Amino acid sequence: MEDPQDQGQRRLTPTEKITQYAQMLSAQQHTLRERLYAPDAEKDLRTFSGPEAASWIGIPESTLRQMDLDGETPFVQRQANGRRAFSLENINAIRHILAEKRPREALKFMPRRQPGEKAKILAVSNFKGGSAKTTTSIHLAHFLALKGLRVLAVDLDPQASLSALFNCQPEFDVGQNETLWAAIRYDDERVPLKQVIRKTYFDGLDLIPANLELQEFEHSTPTAIVSGQARGENIFYKRIANVLTEVEDNYDVIIFDTPPQLGYLTLAALFAASGLFITVNSAMIDIASMNQFLLMLSDIKGVIEDSGGEMNLDYLRFIITRYRDTDAPQQLCSSFLRNLFGEDVLTNAAIETTAIQNAGLQKKSIYEVRAGDIGRDTLKRALESINGVNEEIYDLVKQSWGRAT
Ligand SMILES: Nc1ncnc2c1ncn2[C@@H]1O[C@H](COP(=O)(O)OP(=O)(O)OP(=O)(O)O)[C@@H](O)[C@H]1O
Ligand SMILES: [Mg+2]
Repeated sequence: MEDPQDQGQRRLTPTEKITQYAQMLSAQQHTLRERLYAPDAEKDLRTFSGPEAASWIGIPESTLRQMDLDGETPFVQRQANGRRAFSLENINAIRHILAEKRPREALKFMPRRQPGEKAKILAVSNFKGGSAKTTTSIHLAHFLALKGLRVLAVDLDPQASLSALFNCQPEFDVGQNETLWAAIRYDDERVPLKQVIRKTYFDGLDLIPANLELQEFEHSTPTAIVSGQARGENIFYKRIANVLTEVEDNYDVIIFDTPPQLGYLTLAALFAASGLFITVNSAMIDIASMNQFLLMLSDIKGVIEDSGGEMNLDYLRFIITRYRDTDAPQQLCSSFLRNLFGEDVLTNAAIETTAIQNAGLQKKSIYEVRAGDIGRDTLKRALESINGVNEEIYDLVKQSWGRAT
């Protein structure tokens, strides 16, 4: 039988297959996306039921029904079965109405940053691959946007997994000079940060996508240091913090999903961050790897301080990810971490669940899927755990704004 990878008469060499396989995979993923999101291959956010909308807004469902009866929410579409289907835009519009009607509770309905409060920059990091950095980032970004905050998600990983969850395929949808690299590069082709920010299908959530060109920062930084382009305020670790000031006013929270390496780009993100979240699987080998990450970070912190800079974190938290609470070794590792780091380990762990795996297959978070897609009980349990993690992070954000939680 003919090898499908044969081209004409000649078999491809393994080296030639690298390019061939890359092209085949790109084309397949493109086709898959068109099938998933036909007819225009655009991704949409699902609508939410009355109880779901009420819960995100933080009101009883009866209040929502009364608003409907009073004719305050004619913009919400009614489905064939007579039930209302709330889009996130609708939910945010209702938040506005409520904040105006009840000024004393305005902050509860419109939790956005107030004058004088600073945008919070959160980095999700660890150099251990597969520790759920991207999964944690996307769920946090979706959760905060559903709470009514203005969120910017920044994909710092050349693998572009976070971008993929926004249906953004790096080699098709992200052109040259369209990642964060474009705004922090050292040469004349640098562009304003605004230019690389994209609106997404998620109301209130913007994205800076990634592709392989982000790797350029790792290559060009040593050259820039030698040539003197990266001195003083231009030093590599300040480059992300500096450009963020151009857009910070437009957001409440900025989230960095970092790559599984501690390169110049990750460092620049950690330097800009006010909160660092280290994701760790509850296994000894992962904890040992995290130890190396912390040691490296501690060394680099020293180097930054020697050059006159200072990392300024409001908080550092560990998030136990992919946790199986029935697994004895995992329980042991989790207790070990909690004994060592106390309240710096989030109380809630992100449980290992098929809900996240199945949602991931559709390039979705568990906030986007419906119970029918993956099973009501599985989704409920997954939401309890992931909401728990996200609520704790949201509390930290609110505390740093000086608000009661
Ligand atoms: N709570 C969970 N339950 C089940 N699967 C999970 C969970 N969290 C993450 N995963 C799966 O684990 C895999 C790795 O997760 P993810 O891509 O988030 O890790 P990462 O740290 O970003 O990886 P990388 O280091 O490559 O960037 C993914 O397939 C994801 O769907
Ligand atoms: Mg990742």
